[in-house]
Amino acid sequence: MASATSKEKPRILSGVQPTGRIHLGNYLGALSVWREQQDGYECLFCVVDLHALTIPEVVRPDELRRKTREVCALYLASGIDPERSTIFVQSEVHEHAELAWVLGCVTPLGWLHRMTQFKTKSDQRESVGTGLLTYPVLQAADIVLYQADQVPVGQDQKQHIELARDVAQRFNQLFGETLTVPDVMIREVGARVMGLDDPTAKMSKSVGEKVKGHAIGLLDSPKAIRKAFGRAVTDSGNVARFEDASPGVLNLLTIYRAITGKPREEIEATFDGQGYGHLKMAVADVVLAELEPLQQRWKEIMDDPTYLDGVLDRGAERAREIASKVLVDVKRAVGLGR
Ligand code: TRP
Repeated sequence: MASATSKEKPRILSGVQPTGRIHLGNYLGALSVWREQQDGYECLFCVVDLHALTIPEVVRPDELRRKTREVCALYLASGIDPERSTIFVQSEVHEHAELAWVLGCVTPLGWLHRMTQFKTKSDQRESVGTGLLTYPVLQAADIVLYQADQVPVGQDQKQHIELARDVAQRFNQLFGETLTVPDVMIREVGARVMGLDDPTAKMSKSVGEKVKGHAIGLLDSPKAIRKAFGRAVTDSGNVARFEDASPGVLNLLTIYRAITGKPREEIEATFDGQGYGHLKMAVADVVLAELEPLQQRWKEIMDDPTYLDGVLDRGAERAREIASKVLVDVKRAVGLGR
């Protein structure tokens, strides 16, 4: 049987929600990692617009449509190469929603109630849609639908990927070996960027939309970026060693290290004992050097809707090719259809 599981290279799948303000944490934890994996893996990157519906009261239809395009353009501007990687919009491949139903049927409710992201998000609201609870099931479907071997994400998504592993394993136990059990891929440095205003909480897309100085948006102006780093919370000392730095200083050092790739000792030798003003401006410099060309490319891509549509049309077509085969295998395994 020619199975969809036959791959030339191991496969990667990942995605970002088209909500909030995409920031430096998303870039360091996800987009930049994706870019680096394009030669070793067959890569698929989707914009997960179905996931964005899980908090419908904050996402307006026009805004969702606009952000979906903007995030696709950010993938391209970050160096995801459509000649090597498949870039697509999740809702344009209906198999995601279909597989999510089947996986939901094998996912114990208790597993979902344990998810910290659900707990945090539902604690913030009086009532939540069922989709917020089953969000990780859809995420598991995104991944196993392509028999992905690795899922490169930021630290905050680790629990969801572990759930996807558990769901795939449970499915295989119940219905026979069908799904690839994915591994999480998390970069060593920079997988967890903290808020500049509060370095005890991770940099957040939604907080970044509301609170100035919290996040570095990938499309922020150079002036705003310098200002946000200038105001970053540090402490009253001058210690700049990875081991004993306060959370705010450690965050700045980590961002610097993730971008420059320099060894810790060298970074410490440059900044330890100096005032933090120097560190802040040095971090702003390396971030700007990284983001300015990205912003330039982003504008060019957004000015050429025909190009972007072409990329997404081809991406959806390629994604469907794989997804439709895997879904056939799943349906056969569970006995759906005649
Ligand atoms: N939940 C992820 C996030 O908020 C987005 C996501 C949806 C995802 N489906 C995915 C990430 C599949 C990796 C693989 O960042």
